Amino acid sequence: MVCNRPCNWINFLSCLLVFIISYSLIAIPSLANNFFQDFDVTWGGGRAKILNNGQLLTLSLDKASGSGFQSKNEYLFGKIDMQLKLVPGNSAGTITAYYLSSQGPTHDEIDFEFLGNLSGDPYILHTNVFSQGKGNREQQFYLWFDPTADFHTYSILWNPQNIVFSVDGTPIREFKNSESIGVPFPKSQPMRIYSSLWNADDWATRGGLVKTDWTQAPFTASYRNFKADACIWSSSTSSCDSKSPSSTSNTNAWWLSEELDSKSQERMRWVQKNYMIYNYCTDIKRFPQGLPPECSNTNMS
Ligand SMILES: *[C@@H]1O[C@H](CO)[C@@H](O)[C@H](O)[C@H]1NC(C)=O
Repeated sequence: MVCNRPCNWINFLSCLLVFIISYSLIAIPSLANNFFQDFDVTWGGGRAKILNNGQLLTLSLDKASGSGFQSKNEYLFGKIDMQLKLVPGNSAGTITAYYLSSQGPTHDEIDFEFLGNLSGDPYILHTNVFSQGKGNREQQFYLWFDPTADFHTYSILWNPQNIVFSVDGTPIREFKNSESIGVPFPKSQPMRIYSSLWNADDWATRGGLVKTDWTQAPFTASYRNFKADACIWSSSTSSCDSKSPSSTSNTNAWWLSEELDSKSQERMRWVQKNYMIYNYCTDIKRFPQGLPPECSNTNMS
């Protein structure tokens, strides 16, 4: 906004006002989190709803169908936060999946999955990382709070050095880049954010022993405060690439080189010691010919 009239101070003030107003018009919509702007409902025939002017999204599941949404953007690295409030009460048999994924047979994927339970029994937070189409890297946790009573923040930090899963800012899992020992790392396939609520009572609940109680339907999970500090991928260029026309100065992308400091590692070890219930890296029965190589490159001990 340029003041091209002779600038006495009244003119200056009115120019300033025009500048502030136009700046807010440009800046605010792109800063505010808005599900209409960032996501598409992809399935569920009306069971997924965007509410409160785009500030809230709910997914629901009944006997006929679940529902889901996906991000409009594709991302190649980022720090992505979402607040979720999970299905309350008897949620046994329901799965709320929240994940990043690329497409195709050699896809990459970073997963949070929440396995519901009977009233009063704990949810399981299931995590996995796929690189080049290969997963089998499950780690599961209980949470140190009731994830159905309120919203909590679930975050994925994804950069070329590592992938960190966090809950309310506490890291629970790190998957380090182990390319130097021959393990592919997700770093060249852009991913979208996906989430869905579906029924999996054939396997999710103690091997199918507990069935979904449809008298409790519809089951509902809620989402708010989505935040992506991320490199947006579009027409084969990244918004973080300084050569990109849509480049947002690279210096803002501090998370592109973020790694866990010793304090965060200590907190992660506390979670893993007290709340981890399954770790593929210690499942010797499953890998009799030797644990996967990345298991030797970890902060666990
Ligand atoms: C459900 O609660 C039981 C009993 O506490 C627990 O063993 C199980 O891991 C919980 N989660 C699921 C998904 O079954």
